[in-house]
Amino acid sequence: MLRLKCISDKFGSRLTLIQLRTFLTAKFPELDEFPKSIKSYDDLHKYSIENSDHFWGTLAKNRLDWFKPFNKVNNGAKFGDLENYNSQWFLDGKLNVSVNCVDRHYQKNPNKVALLWEKDEPGFHESVTYEQLYKMMNKMANLLKSCGVQKGDRVAFYMPTCSMTVACMMACARIGALHSVVFAGFSSESLASRINDANCKIVITANQAIRGGKIINLKKTVDEAIKLYPSVKNVLVYKRTENKFEFNAEKDIVIDEVLDQFSSECQPEIMDANDPLFMLYTSGSTGKPKGLVHAQAGYILQSAFSHQIAFNFEKDDVFGCLADVGWITGHTYIVYAPLCNGGTTVLFESSPIYPNPSRYWETIQRLKINQLYIAPTSIRLLIKNGDEWLKKYDLSSLKLLGSVGEPINHEAWHWYDEVVGQKRCKIIDTWWQTETGSLMIAPLPCGKNDQIKPAMAMRPFFGIDAVLLDEKGNEKEPKNTEGILCIKKPWPSMARTIYGDHQRFINTYLRPYPGYYFTGDGSHVDNDRHFQITGRVDDVINVSGHRIGTAEVEDVLDESHHISESAVVGFPHDTLGEGIFAFVTLRNDADFNEEQVVKELKALVKSKIAGYAVPHYFLFVSNLPKTRSGKIMRRVLRNIASNKFDEMGDTSTLFDPSLIDEITAKYKKLK
Ligand code: WT7
Repeated sequence: MLRLKCISDKFGSRLTLIQLRTFLTAKFPELDEFPKSIKSYDDLHKYSIENSDHFWGTLAKNRLDWFKPFNKVNNGAKFGDLENYNSQWFLDGKLNVSVNCVDRHYQKNPNKVALLWEKDEPGFHESVTYEQLYKMMNKMANLLKSCGVQKGDRVAFYMPTCSMTVACMMACARIGALHSVVFAGFSSESLASRINDANCKIVITANQAIRGGKIINLKKTVDEAIKLYPSVKNVLVYKRTENKFEFNAEKDIVIDEVLDQFSSECQPEIMDANDPLFMLYTSGSTGKPKGLVHAQAGYILQSAFSHQIAFNFEKDDVFGCLADVGWITGHTYIVYAPLCNGGTTVLFESSPIYPNPSRYWETIQRLKINQLYIAPTSIRLLIKNGDEWLKKYDLSSLKLLGSVGEPINHEAWHWYDEVVGQKRCKIIDTWWQTETGSLMIAPLPCGKNDQIKPAMAMRPFFGIDAVLLDEKGNEKEPKNTEGILCIKKPWPSMARTIYGDHQRFINTYLRPYPGYYFTGDGSHVDNDRHFQITGRVDDVINVSGHRIGTAEVEDVLDESHHISESAVVGFPHDTLGEGIFAFVTLRNDADFNEEQVVKELKALVKSKIAGYAVPHYFLFVSNLPKTRSGKIMRRVLRNIASNKFDEMGDTSTLFDPSLIDEITAKYKKLK
C-alpha cells in the first residue's frame, strides 16, 4: 500500500522501484543484486553514488565480456587531488571493446543488421549485418597492421558518416590504436594541427564526401594538411564516389582496392581496462583545442548502460542518432553504445532539409526508427519550414525523441512532443559533453510521460553526483536555485586526460573549483531538485550544438594584418541557438574598406578553423572596453551583441566608460 501511494507522486522524484521495474522490464536485471531496502529512484541514485564500487562493479561484470576479470572497481581518485589526480576504473581487467561491440553479436546473431547507412542520395540506404561488419573490421585491422600501426598509435580520420568509418573505428579498437576523428568540416589547417598534436602517422579519409547533394573534396584537404605535416606515412582512401582524385603513389592506399587481400580474422589485442580507446578534440575557453582521451572499459560500460536505460532501448529497436560521427554524440550514441548493446544503428549522411524538409520523416518511415536523437538547432530549422513536410509520413515507429547539444527552448520541445511525437513519445533532453563520454543528466528512467517536464534534462544519471556551486565555490542547496554545474565524484566514462598535457586537464577541469569537476555550464534546479541547463558560463560559444572557443576565433582574427585587436562573443540566434559576434579594432595604417576587410576576415576564419566558426557580424570600433588593468570586459560586449543595453551592470572599473555609448551606437546602425 505504501508503495502504491508513492506511485501517485506528481513528478516521480520518489518513483518506486515497482515503477522502475515496470519501466526497465528486462533491461536492468542487476536491480535484484542491490539491497532490498532500496525503494525508490532516489534511493537507487543515492546507492549508485555512495556504493559506486558495488554499483558499477555489478554492471561491469554482467554487461561486458572480459578476457580477465578486474579485481578492483575504482582507485578512489579525488577531484581535489590537484597534484596526482588520475582516475582508474576496473583495475587489472582485460578486455577488447571491438569484441564487446561486434564479435559477441556476430557469434549469436550474424544476420542481424548492425548499421543502416542512410546515404546522402535521397531514398538510398545500405544495410550492414554484424557478420559483414565483423569481416570489414578485421580486414581493416589487418590493413592497418600492414601499415605498421601498433597498440597505442594514433590514427587520424577525416571521414563522412558512413559504414566504412564505423568499420575503421572498430578496427582501431581491435588492434588497440586510438582513433582521432576530425569532423570533416574542419579546414586543412585545423586537420594538420590535430594530426601534428597527436603525432598521427596514418590518416584515413574518403576521396569525397557528399552532403546535401554537394561534393566535398576530403582527400584534397588531407593532401593540403599533410603538406604542412609531412611525417604522415600513409593516407588510406575510401572511395565514397566514383570521381577521380589525385593519387600520390608514395603515400596513398585505396582501401577499396586492397581490402579483400586481407584476412577477415584478426586476433583482438588484449587491452587493459584503463588503456586509451580513442581521442577527440574539443574547444575550450582558452588556447588550442584539447585532445581528450577516453579509456576502454569505463567508457564502453557507461555508454552502453546509459543508452539502454535513458533511451529505453530494447534489443530489436532501430536507434536513430542523426548526428555526424565526427562529434562525441556520434562516437557514443551512433557507434559504441548501440553496437555494444547489439542494436541496429542509423548512420545519417545527409542534411535535415535535403532534398527537402521531409528528409528526416521519410527516413524514419522507411527505416522504422524507434528512437530519434537530434539537436535543437535541427528542430528549430524544421519548425521554420512548416508542419506540412511531416504530414504525409507514418511516424508510428517512434517511441522516444531525444535532444542534445544545447539548451532546448520551450517552443522546440513542445513541437517535438506534439507534432513529431504526436504526444505518444517520451521526450528527453540530455545534457553531457565530450569530456563526460556519455550522458549525465536526462529525464529517464522514470514512469509515465507526464513525469517529464518540458525543456528540462531533470535527473542526474545513476552514479552522477551533480551539484550547483556559487561563484565562490560553495555548494548550494539544490532546490529552486541556480549556479555553476559541477560534478563531485569521478564516473567511469569520464575522459582521463588531455593528450600530451595532463596538467592542462587538471587546470581546465579541476582547478577552477577544487574538489569538483567544472563543467563550464550553468544550471537551474527547481523545487523537485530537477536540473535545467542554462548554457555556458565561460568563454565558449555554442553554435548549433558546436562548441567554439572565443579565444580560438580571436587568435585567427588577430593574425590579419588589418586587425589590431578583437573580442568575440556569443549572441542569441533564432535557429543556431547562439551566433558569433566579433568586435574588432583596426591597425592605424590599415587601408580600410569595410566590406573588403569583412570578406577577408571571414575567409581567414574559414580556412584556419571551419565554416561554422565564421562570425555572423563584425563591428569595427575605435577601442575595446577594457578595465583599468587592461582586461577586456566581455560582459559589456555580450550585452551589446544581445540587445541588452539596459543591463550593463557595474562599468565603473572601465578605463573609458564613454566607449560603451560609441559601441552601442555603431551596433544599432549595423543591425
Ligand atoms: C556542451 C558540450 C555531448 C553532446 C554534444 C555536445 C552544451 C550539451 C546540452 C543540453 C544544454 C547542452 C553544454 C555542454 N550542451 N547538451 N541538453 N542542454 N546544453 O558536446 O561539443 O562537448 O559540448 O554542449 O554547454 O557543455 P560538446
